[in-house]
Amino acid sequence: MNMIAPSLLSADVVRIAEAVRVVERAGADLVHVDVMDGHYVPNLTFGPGLVKALKKETRLPLDVHLMVDSPAEVIPWFLEAGADWISFHPEASAHPHRDLGLVKSAGRKAGLALNPGTPLGILEELLADLDFVLLMCVNPGRGSQPFIEASRGKIRRLRRWIRETGAPALIEIDGGVSAANIAALAEDGAQVFVAGHAVFNHPDPGQAVAQMRDLVGRPVDR
Ligand code: DX5
Ligand code: ZN
Repeated sequence: MNMIAPSLLSADVVRIAEAVRVVERAGADLVHVDVMDGHYVPNLTFGPGLVKALKKETRLPLDVHLMVDSPAEVIPWFLEAGADWISFHPEASAHPHRDLGLVKSAGRKAGLALNPGTPLGILEELLADLDFVLLMCVNPGRGSQPFIEASRGKIRRLRRWIRETGAPALIEIDGGVSAANIAALAEDGAQVFVAGHAVFNHPDPGQAVAQMRDLVGRPVDR
């Protein structure tokens, strides 16, 4: 099951609803919403108000990526707003197991996001509880950065670990994904592909989604 998740970080913020409609029509599977708090990363972006408003604009699940300190403080806001998938960075949380529980007990999909410098070992006691792992292939904070090649080995090692343990987690990758590398990344074992620049800085974002979708195959079941 492969999924395409356009990242609104690269969309035109004053035309965001239109951007979502275009990628939905083109076959996107999720909408990726990057939340930055100006502390965990040096940028400020979207809040729960946008998530709540988007719920009325699209049937696609909203994949909220929290790049924030103390995610426990904001997870309830995003649950209330209707986020369908929520991930946060484990080193930003004092109690990642408890915070995952907040998301799971609301019946939403819970994930942990790992920076390029964060080892997979941080997942050791948590992997079995995760619906997905978000592997950052750039350092978080902004779009349009080049893909860090060492991420490919990390994707493969996580794929192997998940296979060996039978854990249910999907592998989502975020940063530097484009039509040029998406097929190879799917072969490495990635299943959910976040793409900002490659979709919204393309002259035809719908076509960009359709092309990436073709390169990784259609989803077999949702
Ligand atoms: C970066 C964000 C990404 C970003 C990816 O901190 O987490 O979701 O939108 O952008 P691209 O696809 O342009 O690298
Ligand atoms: Zn993201």
